[in-house]
Amino acid sequence: MSDERRNRAWYGKLDKDGFIHRSWMKNQGFPDHAFDGRPVIGICNTWSELTPCNSGLRELAEGVKRGVWEAGGFPVEFPVMSLGETQMKPTAMLFRNLLAMDVEESIRAYGIDGVVLLGGCDKTTPGQLMGAASVDLPTIVVSSGPMLNGKWQGKDIGSGTDVWKFSEAVRAGDMTLADFMAAESGMSRSKGVCMTMGTASTMASVVEAMGMSLPTNAALPAVDARRMALAHMTGKRIVGMVEEGLKLSDIMTREAFENAILANAAVGGSTNAVVHLLAMAGRVGVDLTLDDFEIGSEIPLLVNCMPSGKYLMEDFCYAGGMPVILKELQHLLRPAKTVLDCDISTYAEGAECWNRDVIRSFDEPLKPAAGLRVLKGNLAPRGAIVKPSAATDALLEHEGEAYVFENIEELKATINSDDLPVTKDSILVLKGCGPKGYPGMAEVGNMPIPSKLVKQGVRDMVRISDARMSGTAFGTVILHVSPEANEGGTLALVKTGDRIRVSASSGALELLVSDAELAERRATWQPDAPRYTRGYAKMYVDHVLQADQGADLDFLVGKDTRPVTRESH
Ligand code: FES
Ligand code: MG
Repeated sequence: MSDERRNRAWYGKLDKDGFIHRSWMKNQGFPDHAFDGRPVIGICNTWSELTPCNSGLRELAEGVKRGVWEAGGFPVEFPVMSLGETQMKPTAMLFRNLLAMDVEESIRAYGIDGVVLLGGCDKTTPGQLMGAASVDLPTIVVSSGPMLNGKWQGKDIGSGTDVWKFSEAVRAGDMTLADFMAAESGMSRSKGVCMTMGTASTMASVVEAMGMSLPTNAALPAVDARRMALAHMTGKRIVGMVEEGLKLSDIMTREAFENAILANAAVGGSTNAVVHLLAMAGRVGVDLTLDDFEIGSEIPLLVNCMPSGKYLMEDFCYAGGMPVILKELQHLLRPAKTVLDCDISTYAEGAECWNRDVIRSFDEPLKPAAGLRVLKGNLAPRGAIVKPSAATDALLEHEGEAYVFENIEELKATINSDDLPVTKDSILVLKGCGPKGYPGMAEVGNMPIPSKLVKQGVRDMVRISDARMSGTAFGTVILHVSPEANEGGTLALVKTGDRIRVSASSGALELLVSDAELAERRATWQPDAPRYTRGYAKMYVDHVLQADQGADLDFLVGKDTRPVTRESH
């Protein structure tokens, strides 16, 4: 029994306050010894029926509890806001920082010593880690795990990725609407997150590479019994972490973030990892910048999963999962401590690859240089990103004429019109979709190809915006342009007919318009009227940082680890 443990200031007090904290908890049938000073472990759960990807987390919480009891701890499960990527409007990203606030304040206000984060769907993992980082207790992640492979008409189909493909096929007249509707049920046929290497599996993979989960957490299917065992083992381990005083900030170091960037490249991970890792780093006090992502740019693509390859997460799991990736990257990984209090290299010990078509070796990769590229220039002075592994090589070096959509409504209203003045060489530009503009930086950056070009067989074009795109999406899509249009970035000044030059190899994104002309346009530029004038959305727009800083709220950066001393009675 340690007096330093936080829970002693709640459950160890021999006075009116201690009576109140213990007595009301006892109404759930907990015995006296639950309050004897043993580690109290919070299980922070984003389960929700409106977040289908996280619907298995109630069961996993029971697994964690078994492990906590077994190790001599006291588990207490609590709910936090859940973010259902496919269900929330205008975008779940608008609420990532609200979840982070909920997580942070819940952890701080309650008498817990360590926390297990149960998340999975895209924004839940980063939102929980951001909040937990700002309190900095011993912390471990258990993820939902991916759905089983989608199956339809005898073929494997992938969450998201095949939705984009099928909807283009319908527009091109290559697929019937009846078939399109029929594919829905086969795509999502078990609990779990998207089974492509979308944002959810990307974040689970980078979390494992950072040593913030037990090994194999990223890829085990949601319904695989081994995930329940992993939850049990995590419950056991978090008790040990509390006893050892192993905090989140001991693990989420600069080296761990660099390992995350390397791993993200090797798995063909989502562009969304950039904003999430930057925001997480800001919380824990690691000075990570957009330019740091360049260390991943020469890393080869090893995982042959959609959207960059052809397989799905279930295949990745059976091929060996993240431990194999960490083994392939071993010569590059920075030394970094994990939740097991060992170096990350131990996660790769004994790892074997069981299918070399699914996980390639470092020397015979799927693509030689797969990491995200950071682009800069007068069109994005603070940066933009592109994912070469999901792009068309020939378009990564391109100069063309801009066709501008001033906002998402204009795009939706005109993209299918037969007289849209665009060719396959045009560059589609979309404004008003950044953190402040949408608000919430929606996943609309992978604009549909204009119908008239789809009918001509065009499947990819250069597209530029201040938006994000789904981790399951693909194409030569330049995202996260910073500053965004609504912040008065150069993007706001682009006009249809301007020429733009993109060069992924030299990291350039240039609007070929003279400074004098741009100054003239800027003099008459007016920001849009705010779409929200009250509530959380107003606070978000007033305080959100740009994409190159992770789109956190300015007053949430950093942490506060001071004890809470005042009682409520
Ligand atoms: Fe939830 Fe993809 S929508 S993980
Ligand atoms: Mg998404």
